[in-house]
Amino acid sequence: MAEKETVTLTDNSTGRTYEFPLLSGTIGPKVIDIRSLYAETGHFTYDPGFTSTGSCASQITYIDGDEGVLLHRGYPIDALAEHSDYLEVCYLLLNGELPNAKQKKDFENIISHHNMVHEQLATFYRGFRRDAHPMAVMCGVVGALSAFYHDSLDINDPKHRLIASHRLISKIPTLAAWAYKYSMGQPFIYPKNELSYAENFLHMMFATPCEDYKVNPVLARAMDRILILHADHEQNASTSTVRLSGSSGANPFACIAAGIASLWGPAHGGANEAVLNMLAQIGSKDRIPEFIARAKDKNDPFRLMGFGHRVYKNYDPRAQVMRKTCHEVLDELGVRDEPLLELAMELERIALEDPYFVEKKLYPNVDFYSGIIFRAMGIPVSMFTVLFAVARTVGWVAQWNEMIADPHQKIGRPRQLFTGETRRSFVPLHQRG
Ligand code: CMC
Repeated sequence: MAEKETVTLTDNSTGRTYEFPLLSGTIGPKVIDIRSLYAETGHFTYDPGFTSTGSCASQITYIDGDEGVLLHRGYPIDALAEHSDYLEVCYLLLNGELPNAKQKKDFENIISHHNMVHEQLATFYRGFRRDAHPMAVMCGVVGALSAFYHDSLDINDPKHRLIASHRLISKIPTLAAWAYKYSMGQPFIYPKNELSYAENFLHMMFATPCEDYKVNPVLARAMDRILILHADHEQNASTSTVRLSGSSGANPFACIAAGIASLWGPAHGGANEAVLNMLAQIGSKDRIPEFIARAKDKNDPFRLMGFGHRVYKNYDPRAQVMRKTCHEVLDELGVRDEPLLELAMELERIALEDPYFVEKKLYPNVDFYSGIIFRAMGIPVSMFTVLFAVARTVGWVAQWNEMIADPHQKIGRPRQLFTGETRRSFVPLHQRG
């Protein structure tokens, strides 16, 4: 972070000028360092939605939304999806470098040996209604991990941080698959260490004690790729939630539970579920124009789910890989004539040609395709966002670790533009109209 240039701010009400450093990262827009703004000027900044605010310095993920670029530690997402595997990407996000053969084997070994959860935790599930949304269950059981692993809660001890990080990445597929099994009324399936991360997840989701379950390699590869594509995405809402929660010194299990809560919303991770619900609502191709018209109507809150992105004003690079994976999975499963898929493809075609979507640069995002793949794999809609949470756990953990180790880290505490009543006298009850 070189600090060479400055930016001058003039307060026209007083005529005073102030200088602020302009910081350059290794790539991407420069940032104005306004940390001294309030002390010097007595003013705050106003940026609801943080559209122009850099909340931290980070070395993990870089996005150029105009060009449709996503790099993890410098490596393009499409190269990682093509040539790497999920645990290798996890190692990269956590450590900054791709592992060598020994490091990779050791890491896989560690992650596979932490995948059981305390047996007492299994009883927590039974406290939920069977029809509970699996994301509600996930918020609860992931938060509850902090009640079980007291030996990794000291955030100032790097060893504790490492163990907690491994535990979270390792246990999250088990917890997610159990949320599904619980909703189905089926027995929990325990992890198998000889399986890969993606295979193990599919195994815990779909195996039963009654018969052998053979993981389809095409589906395992697709699942692994989906996990890679969702692994991290810079300072999005859930990651910022994890950082903000962690900035107070909260333990990592509680912070990741907060991230899961934030991810649940339909404007964020909940969009993949919303896409499928929207496709079901549209129902048939002839109704697409009606829904496109609704999406364009300012007086109608309806939006085309799976389109648009806060950062990407170009094709989401993850969506391109996801589209290819989507076709591979559908070919493997022979579900070419799936009406919902045909509907999705037609919707994509029309929206990409429609001037409203073209001018506003509303391209299909990663969630548009992931829902279709999950559905073809037999994963129920309510589990879609849970899968996103499984994949994103490594990103949250990597960003949380980076924050804790950052010497400039402080508790996150934004200010506000107050627009309410100013001081007034208390009115006794009998005098109120
Ligand atoms: N359908 C119709 N119009 C849209 C859509 C959409 N999906 N998305 C944005 N717009 C319009 C919006 O009405 C606004 O129009 P105007 O300038 O005339 O007021 C303009 O495009 C800009 O939208 P915005 O809401 O100011 O943009 P934002 O950056 O705040 O929102 C978004 C980004 C992803 C929340 C939004 O595009 C959206 O709601 N998309 C649908 C939900 C979705 O697919 N979310 C998944 C995001 S990707 C995965 C993830 O990050 O979790």
